[in-house]
Amino acid sequence: MAGERLRVAVVGCGKMAGAHAAAYRRDGRCALVAAVDPVAEAAEAFSRRHGIPRTYPDHAAMLAAERPDVVSVCTWPCDHEAPVVDASKAGVRGILCEKPIAVTLPAADRMVDAADRVDAVLMVGHQRRYEPRYRLARRLIAEGALGEVLDIHGAAGGDLLTDGTHLVDLARFLLGDPAVEWVFSGIDRTLPERMPAQGFGTLHYNETKRRYGHRIEGGAAGHVQFSGGPRLLFETGSLARRSGYQSIRVAGTIGRLAVSGDPAAGAAPWLRLQGGGGWEEVPLSAADPMAAEVGALVDSVLAGAATPEADLVSGRSARADLEILLAALESGVRRQPVRLPLALADHPLERLEAEA
Ligand SMILES: NC(=O)c1ccc[n+]([C@@H]2O[C@H](COP(=O)([O-])OP(=O)(O)OC[C@H]3O[C@@H](n4cnc5c(N)ncnc54)[C@H](O)[C@@H]3O)[C@@H](O)[C@H]2O)c1
Repeated sequence: MAGERLRVAVVGCGKMAGAHAAAYRRDGRCALVAAVDPVAEAAEAFSRRHGIPRTYPDHAAMLAAERPDVVSVCTWPCDHEAPVVDASKAGVRGILCEKPIAVTLPAADRMVDAADRVDAVLMVGHQRRYEPRYRLARRLIAEGALGEVLDIHGAAGGDLLTDGTHLVDLARFLLGDPAVEWVFSGIDRTLPERMPAQGFGTLHYNETKRRYGHRIEGGAAGHVQFSGGPRLLFETGSLARRSGYQSIRVAGTIGRLAVSGDPAAGAAPWLRLQGGGGWEEVPLSAADPMAAEVGALVDSVLAGAATPEADLVSGRSARADLEILLAALESGVRRQPVRLPLALADHPLERLEAEA
């Protein structure tokens, strides 16, 4: 494949697809060959913007006609499964699916299994793992700068599946991806009255009270108990204090670390460390997380197997995130701690609605 550019197709031509297309173009080892969207104007406008030669109304027709090497799946979470499974079956070598991987565990399992069966590389868009502030924080923690980690405190705007997925994923990342023993949470089921239709995933919210096509909660607060001791205390949506979109503090036996929410609150530095004395800012290098994510996918496809960088955001890792998020919703519904592994075939809030 030396010198040849990988043929890339994008499925779902909305907001996040733009970030994927821009990253493939910057990478230089890829040629964007096709865009898929049932809304013809969306596919056409997207293709014009990114110089993509062909558009299709559905992914099956695109896969049959184009035989791409790489596919980005940028549809809503309930519509991730079919393009990922079909792309795997069609011989696509690398798939970058947006987060959350799915809205139920069986769907996530089918996606991971389909990719595994044909040795396709499946990555899921938790690109924050490539941001220098989290990478460096993870290294400092691993090197013992905080001593033994006791608690991670994380706040996020939005709902658990849409936005909390980054928070849970980053907490796992900072701790080196340990297993989870149990989740206990309370959920606020009062929903915002209205949301701007042009917001992320809010197109039909005002009529359906669904975001990205699925039920959401107004807020959540709870605990995730990791094996080995550390605990994540999370607060999201209506139950989060105002501390930026995603903000994290880690407390250990000899030190603390804080990663500012984004946009960085006022003049607060992105990453701070407190050892024996006061807080000190940790200098960071600049980096483009989308470029790193797409670069890891392309490297993996060219190498014929997932690289360690690609494995950071594997489908299996995203499945672990989803299990924690669904356990938090299930705990809120049952008002009981929920132990993992979670045997749950559905989405707890969808079930509540069906039973009402
Ligand atoms: N990683 C991140 O930081 C991040 C940020 C924002 C959104 N996202 C994720 O990206 C995904 C897309 O979100 P968005 O905000 O770009 O959505 P969007 O609504 O802007 O775009 C979705 C597009 O998919 C199209 N579509 C619907 N059904 C389709 C199908 N069956 N086949 C092909 N196209 C179809 C729609 O017509 C629309 O153009 C979601 O999973 C979301 O959670 C990730």
